[in-house]
Amino acid sequence: MDTVVSGIRPTGNLHLGNYFGAIKNFLSMQEENNCYFFIADYHSLTTHPTPEDLHGNVKQVLAEYLAAGLDPEKATIYIQSDVPEVTELYLLLNMNAYLGELQRVTSFKEKARSQPSNVNAGLLTYPTLMASDVIIHKASKVPVGKDQEQNLEMIRTFTRRFNRMYNTDYFPIPEPYNFGEPLVKIPGLDGSGKMGKSEGTGNALYLTDDPKTVKKKIMKAVTDSGPTEINQEKPDYIQNLFTLLGVVSDNETCNYFEEQYNNCRIRYGDLKKKLAEDMIAFIDPLREKIEALTKDEQYLSKVVRQGAERARENASKTIKDTREIIGVRKF
Ligand code: TRP
Repeated sequence: MDTVVSGIRPTGNLHLGNYFGAIKNFLSMQEENNCYFFIADYHSLTTHPTPEDLHGNVKQVLAEYLAAGLDPEKATIYIQSDVPEVTELYLLLNMNAYLGELQRVTSFKEKARSQPSNVNAGLLTYPTLMASDVIIHKASKVPVGKDQEQNLEMIRTFTRRFNRMYNTDYFPIPEPYNFGEPLVKIPGLDGSGKMGKSEGTGNALYLTDDPKTVKKKIMKAVTDSGPTEINQEKPDYIQNLFTLLGVVSDNETCNYFEEQYNNCRIRYGDLKKKLAEDMIAFIDPLREKIEALTKDEQYLSKVVRQGAERARENASKTIKDTREIIGVRKF
């Protein structure tokens, strides 16, 4: 059985793209592995959130992942800052992480360029904190999207370096987690491409959107006056609506609108109405669960307390061994 570690950025509300991306992956991973999922609150301090925003975002993300099916009985779910062993390992790893290699990380260079007034040491050492997140549990696998590939390379470098330096094979070198089928890319509603937060309001459907909001956003999606030739290829913004239909509607519905399109009989108003209806049926139960969980402070605190306890049990062993290996020994 693999030990898998993944961090979750506490960045407010999740949308349908996150659901069919990261969340679905987490749900499948927790079935077959020894998983540690944590909310990376220390990482998010690089951007200096207000205390209220930081805490609010951690809570929101926690409630949303739990509502979506992350299961505290199957995986260890915790908040990064509840496991102080992580920060000790971070300190130790920083001793062998070099300025040059940290400065060459693409995401660091991008941030340094886009926010020149806040190029802090936390940003520079973001990869060493990630490395300690992962190897504190001696993880063998890390799920990574495209944007995190270089960070995983850094984690591997630091881990190999530690093992070499102390002539040990104590830490496994973590590998990328390979998922079976490729995931569906969820398009946004403004015709521009992938569903994402930054692409303007109305583009993303959030798991917390109420039925009225969902309907309004879908009815506003970009369309045109319809196909003029039989079996005409769909422009991207129309294909996007069909892709969304494909994830929330049944086959019969998809086939029906497909045929209507191919015969140039499609009425986009009807398609959108049906899409809105099926989307609401999908999102609304999630929205209700999120709302209930957000109010249930007692349950949330029980989950993270239990998670921290389990994570620390494992992490304290790693720290004890690591201190011994390095020579930080007790008298
Ligand atoms: N950097 C990751 C992100 O931005 C979050 C993260 C923090 C993480 N620590 C990690 C992911 C360790 C995997 C393993 O999404």
